[in-house]
Amino acid sequence: MINIIVAVDSKMGIADEHGLPWSVEADKKYYRDKIKDSNILMGRGVYDELQEPPSSKKNYVLTHLENLREGFAKIDKIEDIIKNNNDLWVIGGEKVYQQMLDYTDKVYLTRIYGDFKCTKFFPEFENDFYLSSSTDNENEDGTSFRFEIYNRK
Ligand SMILES: NC(=O)c1ccc[n+]([C@@H]2O[C@H](COP(=O)([O-])OP(=O)(O)OC[C@H]3O[C@@H](n4cnc5c(N)ncnc54)[C@H](OP(=O)(O)O)[C@@H]3O)[C@@H](O)[C@H]2O)c1
Repeated sequence: MINIIVAVDSKMGIADEHGLPWSVEADKKYYRDKIKDSNILMGRGVYDELQEPPSSKKNYVLTHLENLREGFAKIDKIEDIIKNNNDLWVIGGEKVYQQMLDYTDKVYLTRIYGDFKCTKFFPEFENDFYLSSSTDNENEDGTSFRFEIYNRK
């Protein structure tokens, strides 16, 4: 099973040039709880923003870099990870979501309501996935959001 986890704004934006343009503690906790004990895959853009490996299992990084920090494992080609991983969470960013969407079974998507003027986006996906569950809208410090899960059709 390959899962994507992502938070998007009302325009499907995921980040601006400085990273995440919102701060929603409930979403950070949701994300941490989902990925902390699973194999995860990220791009080098995400890797650069992290202080330490977020998962106790494998923290794979798609990159051409040779030397990664301790606790991270380099992946050269997405084919290698698709073949060898039955239980993988894809945590972004934009370029990695684009390449992994075709191989993904479920999308765990947090809707953050509003336009945060993002410059990076999640790809179109709703033609191939259906909404299987959703929470009610929640609110934190004036930001509304909800948690949705999409399954492949
Ligand atoms: N809203 C959310 O849920 C969410 C989630 C995650 C990330 N983000 C945001 O997304 C942004 C990062 O996105 P991004 O698109 O800039 O970066 P990214 O997808 O994290 O990483 C892109 C980099 O990964 C490497 N890469 C990608 N595909 C590869 C392949 N097939 N083979 C080898 N290497 C490959 C390349 O780095 P090399 O040059 O090293 O090879 C490429 O420049 C950050 O600002 C982050 O905050 C948002």
